[in-house]
Amino acid sequence: MDIHNRTALIVGGTSGIGLGLARRLANAGSTVIVTGRHPSTETPFETEIIDVTDIEAIHNARDRIVRAHPTLDLLVTMAGVMLLEDLRDPTHITATEETIAVNLLGTIRTISAFTPHLASRGAADIVTVTSGIAYLPFPLMPSYGASKAGVHAFTEALHPQLAGTGVSVTELVPPAVATSGQEKLNPAALPLDDYLDDVISLITMNPTPEQIIVRAAERLRWAERDGTYADLLAARSLSLSSLPGR
Ligand SMILES: NC(=O)c1ccc[n+]([C@@H]2O[C@H](COP(=O)([O-])OP(=O)(O)OC[C@H]3O[C@@H](n4cnc5c(N)ncnc54)[C@H](OP(=O)(O)O)[C@@H]3O)[C@@H](O)[C@H]2O)c1
Repeated sequence: MDIHNRTALIVGGTSGIGLGLARRLANAGSTVIVTGRHPSTETPFETEIIDVTDIEAIHNARDRIVRAHPTLDLLVTMAGVMLLEDLRDPTHITATEETIAVNLLGTIRTISAFTPHLASRGAADIVTVTSGIAYLPFPLMPSYGASKAGVHAFTEALHPQLAGTGVSVTELVPPAVATSGQEKLNPAALPLDDYLDDVISLITMNPTPEQIIVRAAERLRWAERDGTYADLLAARSLSLSSLPGR
């Protein structure tokens, strides 16, 4: 994927991995627009306020963005929440509903809104964002894993659906990255800059791999194939003891 001279929209680009990626794309010469629910003082980029749970807000923002940036040819669906849940406490369902609304439906709503414009460009890219947890559950975040497995499945269907339109689809599969509180939850989380160095070297390969799996994500992505799934899941289940009352 070419990352020079693109017009890129990073939905969920006001902090964390999205903001880091925005900086990398801008440094490579691309124009970048970012979005979040709230304005951010952290970002030097043009920012649109969108809540991806609100389809009308997405459509309105899409119209403004496409009008102002008709060259838009790269969409990254980064918006996501990572919520802990105790499945023995029925009130977890609030976190489940938010997780699916933002991570899965939000991704699908955004792609659906921008696909006609991207296809009209003749050559464009959509980058979806899953997680190693889509492939090897982290039992403290059950609905998060379900949402990201859903984004993976959607991405797999998007490839053939968009074949012949000029729109290419790439799935980013981050491991734990030291953003959004992950640095406290997981001391092994990758520093953001190290993660982005690896992402940029993989995503700029020609042809672009369908999935961007940095080294730290490989053991999660390929656990089932490698026969390590049961042992890794058991080890990751130990984290459940951190829930109150366990
Ligand atoms: N960090 C990790 O360890 C890790 C690992 C695997 C995958 N990921 C995935 O990578 C992506 C970015 O994660 P991050 O760590 O960079 O998190 P982050 O710093 O919390 O960034 C999340 C971004 O999404 C936006 N967002 C959240 N809810 C939204 C909503 N309802 N509507 C619109 N925008 C919304 C946030 O802006 P506002 O808060 O202003 O809305 C922010 O721009 C997520 O999809 C996450 O699941 C992260």
